[in-house]
Amino acid sequence: MSAAADWVALRAAAAAVSAHAHAPWSGLRVGAAGLTDDGRVVAACNVENASYGLTLCAECGVVSMARAGGSGALVALAVVAGDGQPLAPCGRCRQVLMDNGGPGLLIDAGAGAPPVTLGDLLPSPFDTDELLARRRS
Ligand code: THU
Repeated sequence: MSAAADWVALRAAAAAVSAHAHAPWSGLRVGAAGLTDDGRVVAACNVENASYGLTLCAECGVVSMARAGGSGALVALAVVAGDGQPLAPCGRCRQVLMDNGGPGLLIDAGAGAPPVTLGDLLPSPFDTDELLARRRS
């Protein structure tokens, strides 16, 4: 089952959870909210680490929550900074999202703009098709 995305609600959920961000190092609070293919909304924030490189992006939390709840994939995602404005998913998150939403995953581009697809943001991805076709058996 897949539901149409309520972008206003997704942005609001992302903005609300950004208040829980643990971002003492960058000072950038991030919230992300995703709609799953079974109609759930899951939201998460960034969690920074003193070692910097172990920081968890908000989108990774969303993916983890979606899977933990039994969803197969994300169908829509809003990412905002603490100011409520849309934020572009980082490169690593685009790759993580590709395995958990595919190129058709809709990404919010903000009020007044149509959503973009993950395929727009990450063209020619390394994906599971390539992995399965090219690995040594
Ligand atoms: N951040 C995210 O949570 N998602 C992104 O897609 C971009 C970056 C976080 C990680 C770090 O805590 C802060 O933003 C600055 O990079």
